Amino acid sequence: MDDTGRTPVVDLRLDRAHSARIYDYLLGGRTHFAADREAAGRILAAFPAAGAAARINRDFMARATRRLAHDGMVQFLDIGTGIPTSPNLHEVAQRIRPGARVVYTDNDPIVLTHAAALLRGRPEGRTAYVEADVTRPESVLGAPRLLATLDLTRPVALSLNALLHFIGDDGADRGHAVVEHLKGALAPGSTLTITHATADFTPAAMAEVGAVYARAGTPFRLRTEAEFRRLFDGWEFIGPGVTLSHRWCPDRPGDALRATSAEAACYAAVARKP
Ligand SMILES: C[S@@+](CC[C@H](N)C(=O)[O-])C[C@H]1O[C@@H](n2cnc3c(N)ncnc32)[C@H](O)[C@@H]1O
Repeated sequence: MDDTGRTPVVDLRLDRAHSARIYDYLLGGRTHFAADREAAGRILAAFPAAGAAARINRDFMARATRRLAHDGMVQFLDIGTGIPTSPNLHEVAQRIRPGARVVYTDNDPIVLTHAAALLRGRPEGRTAYVEADVTRPESVLGAPRLLATLDLTRPVALSLNALLHFIGDDGADRGHAVVEHLKGALAPGSTLTITHATADFTPAAMAEVGAVYARAGTPFRLRTEAEFRRLFDGWEFIGPGVTLSHRWCPDRPGDALRATSAEAACYAAVARKP
């Protein structure tokens, strides 16, 4: 069902590789088609650590969510959710805060078709799915289902994991503008969690990965560490600040050594609105 309660006609565009399905393939999931596997194969040829990087990104999401739930966050907004992959964010949050409310958002219809797995939350809590495009952030924040689930006058833990590098620039830094819009709409005490691919360590490989996405019609806009850091301007970092995803508060000290910066290829940070 869409946000109006109607069942939409879904065109999955199986002829074209999609970022959500490529990512699912890299994670060892089952929701991908020939075009996605072909694109993922090219990505792996250019950047053999792509599968490990995807897993590192997922593990970071779980650690950051645990930390925020322990810190008292009970409302979560996850944009660019992807195809459900256990543990999903609500499972992590509700294990610690059973009453946590979680809204998931993605613009890929394949995620909508799998959203049921995201809606099986704890009875004390609540989860909802909103199909929306983050480049129109007002369509996310104003979605009736979001407003029925989250109280935007109270702190919200916003996550944009492995999403912003798929937002093209159009002459201006669109991703940055989207983040600023979302930051402005959230109440003090809200948090922002972002992971973002970078070419800082492997420029040639990332250029080839970008070419694969370009062929699929998906922009791939990488950020340097300085550009990534700017996304958090005005907010206070929680934990170590900007680092590679696997080095953000590792569960065991040895986990920070499980990959090189070039293999992780993704910056991560969490910050709070003063
Ligand atoms: C690589 S997946 C990341 C999934 C999950 N956040 C994670 O980190 O494990 C990127 C997701 O962003 C979604 N996405 C890309 N562009 C988007 C947009 N403009 N609005 C909303 N979602 C978008 C894709 O459909 C895909 O599901």
